Amino acid sequence: METKTALITGSTSGIGRATALKLARDGVRVVVSGRDADRGMEVVERIRAEGGGAEFVGAELRDAQSAAELAAKATKVAESAGGVLNILVNNAAIGSGGPTAGTEESTFDAVLATNLKVPFYLVANIAPAMAARGGGAIVNVSTLAAEVALPGLSVYGASKAALDLLTKSWAAEFGPAGVRVNSVSPGPTRTPGSEALGEALEQLAAQAPLGFVADPEDIAAAIAFLISDQARFITGAVLDVNGGRTVV
Ligand SMILES: NC(=O)c1ccc[n+]([C@@H]2O[C@H](COP(=O)([O-])OP(=O)(O)OC[C@H]3O[C@@H](n4cnc5c(N)ncnc54)[C@H](OP(=O)(O)O)[C@@H]3O)[C@@H](O)[C@H]2O)c1
Repeated sequence: METKTALITGSTSGIGRATALKLARDGVRVVVSGRDADRGMEVVERIRAEGGGAEFVGAELRDAQSAAELAAKATKVAESAGGVLNILVNNAAIGSGGPTAGTEESTFDAVLATNLKVPFYLVANIAPAMAARGGGAIVNVSTLAAEVALPGLSVYGASKAALDLLTKSWAAEFGPAGVRVNSVSPGPTRTPGSEALGEALEQLAAQAPLGFVADPEDIAAAIAFLISDQARFITGAVLDVNGGRTVV
């Protein structure tokens, strides 16, 4: 039986890291990816110490070419370990924000490139092989800011709202070949990336019925469920993991 292999972008930190650890515990071989090799190797070594399989593949994701290169390297890593790349988690993202007036064009372009263009070209390079083999699972990590207006997060939210539409497009495009595509949409979650928000993270969490800040493991559990065969009839969904923030 072929070993399942997952490429998780941005798995050197936060939600991606927690997802890598969770999938490895579920028996999936993981390609850990990010810019920071030290953080990447920490995750790989932790997975190996727990008896799982993992490799680090460094990537600075910014355009179609960097996405294509990561897809090729991850495919090679999967195959050289006797597996196939049948899981992709598009998690790496830039969360920079600010008022609309004064947003630099370079910021707009960087957010759209990392959060939207890169996932698009990762799927373009990886999903056809999944489809040819008759199966696979893709999860796009979205955000609460894609569903409601959060102050200062217009470009970030727009990039992820577009990603959620791609989730539906890809579910339709690749579903007949057995490839499922879903989004997980987290609310405020305590990660190295959200640390800079300080008290604003708690204030945002307090607006939701459950009222607390999530741990990365709360989001990883939802991602792992959507990847698993237990979700075999679910595709094109955007799963809110936000403490109920979007129902009030
Ligand atoms: N935390 C929250 O409250 C929250 C809420 C809603 C949605 N989200 C979403 O959840 C996902 C993960 O967020 P997080 O809070 O876990 O973030 P984080 O702790 O800042 O981690 C971000 C990860 O993405 C990688 N990354 C960023 N830009 C990259 C680039 N250009 N090329 C390659 N790798 C890059 C980082 O790699 P390096 O280690 O190399 O820097 C790191 O592994 C994002 O999609 C974010 O939008 C987070």
